[in-house]
Amino acid sequence: MSEDKTIYRPSQEIVEAAHVPDYDALREEAAQDPPGFWAARAEELLDWYEPWERVLDDSDAPFFKWFTGGKTNVVLNALDRHQRTATRNKLALVWEGEDGTLKTYSYFALNREVCEFANVLRSMGVKKGDRVTIYMPRIPELLMAMLATAKIGAVHSVVYGGFSVEALGERIEDSESKVLITADGGYLRGKIVPLKEIADEALQRCGTVEHVVVIRRTGEPVHMEQDRDYYYDELMALPVARSAGDGSETEVMDAEDPLFLLYTSGTTGKPKAILHTHGGYQVGTATTLKYAFDLKPEDRWWCAADPGWITGHSYIVYGPLILGATSIMYEGAPTYPYPDRWWRIVERYGVTILYTAPTAIRGLMRFGDSWVKKRNTSTLRLLGSVGEPINPEAWRWYHEVVGKGECPIIDTWWQTETGAFMITPVPSFPLKPGSGTKPFPGVQAEVLDDEGNPVPPGEEGKLVITTPWPSMLRGIYKDPDRYIEQYWSTYEGKYLTGDSAKVDEDGYFWIIGRVDDVIKVSGYRLGTAEIESGLVSHEAVAEAAAIAIPDEIKGNVIHAHVILKAGSEGSPELVSELKAHVGHEVGPIAKPTHIEFVDALPKTRSGKIMRRLLKARAMGLPEGDTSTLEG
Ligand code: PRX
Repeated sequence: MSEDKTIYRPSQEIVEAAHVPDYDALREEAAQDPPGFWAARAEELLDWYEPWERVLDDSDAPFFKWFTGGKTNVVLNALDRHQRTATRNKLALVWEGEDGTLKTYSYFALNREVCEFANVLRSMGVKKGDRVTIYMPRIPELLMAMLATAKIGAVHSVVYGGFSVEALGERIEDSESKVLITADGGYLRGKIVPLKEIADEALQRCGTVEHVVVIRRTGEPVHMEQDRDYYYDELMALPVARSAGDGSETEVMDAEDPLFLLYTSGTTGKPKAILHTHGGYQVGTATTLKYAFDLKPEDRWWCAADPGWITGHSYIVYGPLILGATSIMYEGAPTYPYPDRWWRIVERYGVTILYTAPTAIRGLMRFGDSWVKKRNTSTLRLLGSVGEPINPEAWRWYHEVVGKGECPIIDTWWQTETGAFMITPVPSFPLKPGSGTKPFPGVQAEVLDDEGNPVPPGEEGKLVITTPWPSMLRGIYKDPDRYIEQYWSTYEGKYLTGDSAKVDEDGYFWIIGRVDDVIKVSGYRLGTAEIESGLVSHEAVAEAAAIAIPDEIKGNVIHAHVILKAGSEGSPELVSELKAHVGHEVGPIAKPTHIEFVDALPKTRSGKIMRRLLKARAMGLPEGDTSTLEG
């Protein structure tokens, strides 16, 4: 990616209005005592049932604990406390369906529905610590399901609605969920995604789920299993939904009690469940959202991600609700029915901050400026980017055409594991297109060479985080060894991000990309192992290797190399069949763009596929060092 060293300075108006007018000064102050910085935010931004005894317990590192002894529940801050102030009457959520349906919820209305659903879940026998899988389209009930689960102290595991049978089944099984919350279907580009049908097939492959709650979104008839499946609206009409009178009790949790599992792809093998907890996660999401996006009561915040990924968990659901903000949520595709759909949403609801991924920006940019220009987007004051590096061309289009040259672009680098932004500017800070600028106050990052020494300015190395932070993952569910191995074993005492990066002479960080077997397609995180296991589950396939090939719009696309079993022959029909098979097993987002039939895969003498070599060959680049190649 080409670098653009132009420096964009914010207007005086933006600097004066900012929560953090002098970012470097705050960073330096926080660096003197990071736990102290976070503790001050925990006190300032959140209510606690009981205060913590210790801010950071590092006695069992890398199993760090934050705010130990503190009692809380994310719902205390996201909903309960707002019922006692004027925020109760404020809009929490403005939701637009792809079909144009509009629904709005005040903090009061959202809380009422969450309380009733919490009562229903309790009556189904869901208890503190139980896992609940949520597999839904982008509709308000997805938020309610997450909040109701958290409220009763259960642990949610949201599976993105774009995943399919095997991916869903595997995640339900690994989390040993008792309850699955899903919908009869969802809308995407005018078509119905048959979520219940996919869920039924997944449930045949795993055996822990006792009850399924089905939200009616499309109204299409779906199979309902006797004594297992119940419609949400019918459950919510039962007296039990109102059994606790005017509300429902929020479970008092320890700061370190689990809040959710979120599966993500790693270097090898199956997706792993990243674990986040009630206390530190709230501190991280609320602080970063407030400072990096200067969130103010008058804002209308639109995080256009899906709640099924970490971006949605932290910045559609928890961060904005904790801060009492008004969020916009849209169900469907950005270009449906026309490429001005997003700009119509900005105009219709007066969005002030838009937060999205470079892939969406590039996708919309392709249709030209006129679609943006014919809509009134003058309410926008800040723009955000996440999920992959943003190329300077897309940055400039976003800044100049969408933001009319006036909106700073907040390029936030972070991960499922980090829970909240780690490297990001704040609106008052000078920007360079494509750089997330510097670590957030209280976060310390470095770029290291293989020996663990910081690399000189401008040179590429591995990005690490050197001190613990409150919203950090608390581990991989059921797999403490993998947690240590994956994140903490490369450099003693430092968290390995899996990304390569550079730091320039001004101390600005530039993310280059993943250095492991994780592929970012349209900003979605996939493991080569997941795509490959999707391929080898087809009867014709003996072995497969997936790599990422750069793509102008999607960032990367998947190129799969496939060795067929004896007796099977490669053909265009088989290519289509294999793509459809991966779509059915893993999900449409994992479908390879290219499938190439090969007789052998280059491997090291220890049997590891040399993906670097496959990539060089696919892109027609020099093969580099092949000395470890099997003879
Ligand atoms: O490679 C980095 C890329 O996304 C990875 C994390 O993916 P995931 O856990 O799905 O979380 C995505 C949303 C937080 C990182 O390791 N990434 C994320 N944000 C950026 C980014 N790459 C460059 N610039 C970013 N702003």
